[in-house]
Amino acid sequence: MSKWLNQLHQGDSIQLLQSLPESEHADLVFADPPYNIGFSYDVYDDRKSDDEYLNWSRAWMKGVHRALKPDGSFWLAIGDEYVAELKQVACEVGFQLRSWVIWYYTFGVNCKANFSRSHTHLLYFIKDSKKFTFNHQEIRVPSARQLVYRDARAEHSGRLPDNTWILRPQDTRNGGFLADHDTWFFPRVAGTFKERAGFHGCQMPEQLLGRIIRCSSPAGGVVLDPFAGSGSTLLVAKKLGRSYLGFELSAEYVRLASDRIHQARVGDPLEGPADPLSSAPATQAGRSQFKKESQPDPQGLAAAFEEASDGYSVDRLIADPVLNAKFIDACGARGLAGRPRDWNLGIVGLRKSGELQLETSAKRTDMSWDQLDPLLFASEIALRKMLDAGYLSVDEVLSDPTAAARFDDIARSLAPGHRTLQYRWAALRLRKDARLWQRAAEGGQPPTVGAFRELSASQIAREPDQPCVYEIFREEAPEFPVYVGDTINLRSRLAAMEQRLTALEAILKTPGTWRYRLFGEHNASATDRRGVQSLRIGQTHPALNFLDLGAAVAEEPAAIQ
Ligand SMILES: C[S@@+](CC[C@H](N)C(=O)[O-])C[C@H]1O[C@@H](n2cnc3c(N)ncnc32)[C@H](O)[C@@H]1O
Repeated sequence: MSKWLNQLHQGDSIQLLQSLPESEHADLVFADPPYNIGFSYDVYDDRKSDDEYLNWSRAWMKGVHRALKPDGSFWLAIGDEYVAELKQVACEVGFQLRSWVIWYYTFGVNCKANFSRSHTHLLYFIKDSKKFTFNHQEIRVPSARQLVYRDARAEHSGRLPDNTWILRPQDTRNGGFLADHDTWFFPRVAGTFKERAGFHGCQMPEQLLGRIIRCSSPAGGVVLDPFAGSGSTLLVAKKLGRSYLGFELSAEYVRLASDRIHQARVGDPLEGPADPLSSAPATQAGRSQFKKESQPDPQGLAAAFEEASDGYSVDRLIADPVLNAKFIDACGARGLAGRPRDWNLGIVGLRKSGELQLETSAKRTDMSWDQLDPLLFASEIALRKMLDAGYLSVDEVLSDPTAAARFDDIARSLAPGHRTLQYRWAALRLRKDARLWQRAAEGGQPPTVGAFRELSASQIAREPDQPCVYEIFREEAPEFPVYVGDTINLRSRLAAMEQRLTALEAILKTPGTWRYRLFGEHNASATDRRGVQSLRIGQTHPALNFLDLGAAVAEEPAAIQ
């Protein structure tokens, strides 16, 4: 039996596409890659520079071209931001555009100062314009004659879907699609829908994928999804009797999506309304989903917590994008009043007030300070920037999806390559343990202060890979450190900061000639180092530290030796 087929594989799609043997090449690739718009995924950082994103897209599309049979089709889902560029890239790697479909959806995100986004582009490419699968009988839809005019002369088998501008069905006088409009209409899989798997924010509707798979792959053919996410493409391929294989970077998504796929059987009906114009999507709570109260109901919040938390704490539920997506869905499905921010703050409030017994605490989140060390400074700086922007606490930042995404972006810009959960967990731990820092400063001796050093790669290479407290500042203003840090590995930490000076300067909005100096002994204990860091933060109020770590001291900064 093939080790590739009917599996979701964890790993990088560029590498996996390259390794796929020819015998397993696909009839259809459906790709819904990250759109480079700063979305919060479990592990992937969705904010690359334009060049980086396009080069990365070129690399995976080359892999798709290689992994497709000569008569195969490639469908690409992509947002407005990069659709033009990615169409170009696809043509450069050898694809031919066959159709540019607009997927129009309801339940998008409302914008305040712009038109609300209600569509995604679905680009349909083939390798060979003379040889490809197009099962038009499989995907016919009712024609306007049938749907709007109820005309008995209408062709019973309907017509092919088309792709043009369209008004929202509820805004058109006749409440439907006109004959010369050719946008596909499916609602997005909103949080309240029964179809929603609940751990991934970008779940594609089964009916939309069904149309693509039925049209562009033969019965029993192979469907490949290089960015599988919640596993919807593979699930639908399985239901429709295709073989499937998928790739996904996040081990957590792979685990949850694989469970989802295994539960489906060949021949199962697709979720969601086959004809969204004449039926509303099923919600888990039936039609009574919109309640009038402005405060979410505590019992409902507690029940949603129980359903989504998987035995973890409230802090973990708020910080973990996978668990939080489940919780938001569970709140939505219960029709709780408010929005995701209210639900998150609501559950945090319930935990604090002790009003409800919430913490099952069967599962601990094990992330030691040592494990968090490579990203600790980034989380601390991101937290400080969000507090400066007016958010009152870590909980406020992490509970608000927009603020949390902003926090993630700042942290990632300074220390890329870690999981969203790790950045957020570090911030929560700093908040939780701030008292430990302050206590460690009590009665501590003023630390010895090292000489000024240039923050350059050659200088940093001479530092030991040992624990130490350090201070970063501009040459022009040595008395005002911008950041006082503590690390278990001085050389790695300084190198990491030096490599991200551009990001640091973007955050500070001023360039500088950067210097550093060391405080206290190398290799001092964690408590001693915390004490030194806390004293320095308390004395100098650096621009990028979390000030709650600072000891309440009103001394002059230590003399420079
Ligand atoms: C837009 S989502 C896909 C959603 C999916 N269509 C669904 O219905 O759930 C993109 C996914 O690509 C994954 N990803 C990002 N970079 C990847 C890579 N290099 N290899 C594999 N997966 C990747 C992300 O973790 C994310 O889950």
